[in-house]
Amino acid sequence: MAEKFYITTPIYYPSGKWHIGTCYTTIVCDAIARFKRMQGVDVFYLTGTDEHGQKIQKVAQAAGVPVKEYIDKIVGELKDLWKLLDISYDKFIRTTDEYHEKAVQKIFNKLYEQGDIYKSEYEGWYCTPCEAFWTKSQLVDGKCPDCGRPVELMKEESYFFKMSKYQDRIIKLIEENPDFLQPLSRQNEMLNNFLRPGLQDLCVSRTSFDWGIKVPFDPKHVVYVWLDALTNYITALGYGSDDTTLFDKYWPADIHMMGKEIVRFHSIIWPAILMALDIPLPKKVYGHGWLKFGTDKMSKSKGNVVDPFILCDRYGVDALRYYMLREVQFGQDGSYTNESFIKRINSDLTNELGNLVSRVTAMVTQYFGGQIPAPNAEEPIDAELKELCQGLYGKLCKDIDQLAVPQALEHIWEVIQRANKYIDETTPWILAKSEEGKVRLATVMYNLCEAIRYVATTLRPFLTKTPDKIFAKLGIEDEALKSFDSLAVFGATKVGTTVDKGEALFVRYDLNKELAYMDGIIEEQMKQAKAKEEKQVENAVTIQEIGIEEFEKVQLKVGTIVECEKVPKADKLLCSKVDLGEGSLRTIVSGIAKYYTPEEMVGKQVVVVTNLKPVKLCGIESQGMVLCASDDEGNLTLISPATKMKSGSEIR
Ligand code: MSP
Repeated sequence: MAEKFYITTPIYYPSGKWHIGTCYTTIVCDAIARFKRMQGVDVFYLTGTDEHGQKIQKVAQAAGVPVKEYIDKIVGELKDLWKLLDISYDKFIRTTDEYHEKAVQKIFNKLYEQGDIYKSEYEGWYCTPCEAFWTKSQLVDGKCPDCGRPVELMKEESYFFKMSKYQDRIIKLIEENPDFLQPLSRQNEMLNNFLRPGLQDLCVSRTSFDWGIKVPFDPKHVVYVWLDALTNYITALGYGSDDTTLFDKYWPADIHMMGKEIVRFHSIIWPAILMALDIPLPKKVYGHGWLKFGTDKMSKSKGNVVDPFILCDRYGVDALRYYMLREVQFGQDGSYTNESFIKRINSDLTNELGNLVSRVTAMVTQYFGGQIPAPNAEEPIDAELKELCQGLYGKLCKDIDQLAVPQALEHIWEVIQRANKYIDETTPWILAKSEEGKVRLATVMYNLCEAIRYVATTLRPFLTKTPDKIFAKLGIEDEALKSFDSLAVFGATKVGTTVDKGEALFVRYDLNKELAYMDGIIEEQMKQAKAKEEKQVENAVTIQEIGIEEFEKVQLKVGTIVECEKVPKADKLLCSKVDLGEGSLRTIVSGIAKYYTPEEMVGKQVVVVTNLKPVKLCGIESQGMVLCASDDEGNLTLISPATKMKSGSEIR
């Protein structure tokens, strides 16, 4: 039976703000999953979205869209991004999927029934505008640390998970299984900052919002988002459903991969939940570092092009995948800059890999009519290149087992660099000058083609487009020659295969030109961000909330238009005499002459603001305002009661 391997990314918040940092976990997991698959391992790679919680509910409400509809669109965009980046996940789970929701309810029930979840009261300092609880020590000068406004001591009825019960077992788990939580630095962080000071029971339900999975036996509570989210790793495999085939096959997970900021949830809360459910623990939790811009965690519009769609469009998916996998020392933080990105493409991809392939295919074309020649005159200098190729797969296996992804790429580049050096050492252009030299040249060319095949094959988990392009150039169609198995013996490339130099694999970019291009994009992004901000401010002003007492100050009545005429010398204005049941008629001037003729106005019932201070318009005193609705497309219509009402009827 094939070895199995279950790897997961965290499930993503549907924030819609994708930048290259967001893609980091998925690209790394993708490379590992692809590598394992090529090793013949039965891989299950899970990713998805974390869709519940107050934050997303608020954002959707602010956008005026039903929450699920709002999220569906963003999830669609995220899936497009994963498609663009060739993320080869086996399953995409959404926490709003019905099977997940049902399974979470089952889990909650089970934990409640066995006494691991109990009902109590959550007490904390509550900031109403932020809808957030704070502990006393989190307050800043006794006020909300987020918005600085006053807080009040509040109690919320909640369910609690007995996390404290599992504290000693989790400490033991981390101390006695150094492999469980990696890299090492995260172990000390968890032990010293959270576990040894003592775990508190965890509040696992909320009543102050309802966008979540309902607690089955107490539906005014929704399940705490992290309890809901973490269980995705087992519900995606069918845990809690009628069909547990995948769960039985793949659980426990081999690796839960994530950014360092959520290690606490995965290495403390998650094991505690699994212990309570009596389910085996994942084999490894790995908290990688952040891809930063300068010293900040990444965000858009901060001086670097961080939009994966833009970068892939201009430089290709492989350039981005390569940069992400190679640039950052895995486990540590790394910095993205436009400059380092372009430099990586130019040096590693264009100069080293691209050049090697184009030089070799050009020489095979020039010296051997495009057919890979038979090797026949070995020299000691060949041994180093061959050994490097033959030893490569072994090194990569070790690197991937240790999650040393950049080192894996470094090892592949050792072969590329050695092959380029081999060309300089063997000087094919001199060998080509004599018949005797040509005998030796055939061996040199064969060895180089074979080295390139090693490179293309081992690059397959990391880059998704380039290896196929290289195979096409080498004329290799046989899938067996693209497999890890084919790397056992140097010499699998078939003599006589026709190569095709074709187009260059990578372009060499003019650094300054590209930086200027990227600056242009950033400028445009800044402009758009500024315009959006201004629009938000504008909206905030127009939709500023008012209390009922303020609204009650406005007097609205039904009026009937008795007379109407155009205001002389004013294109836009109509002057109406309006019956408001007051005995005498009021004069009201309105800017609606473009939409209504005076004849159309007469007899209409309208809504009038009757307690506005009178104003003079074109010399006429207007004693109120007629209400209209208008839209962005330039339409305008009067507001009228749905059925005829007595003039002067109050509108409340
Ligand atoms: N929804 C939670 C995870 C729940 S898992 C049960 C969450 N989502 S997230 O969308 O905020 O983050 C998803 C992943 O993207 C995390 O691994 C996070 O660390 C990673 N990254 C987001 N920005 C990042 C960088 N700038 N650099 C590297 N990875 C970062 O957390």
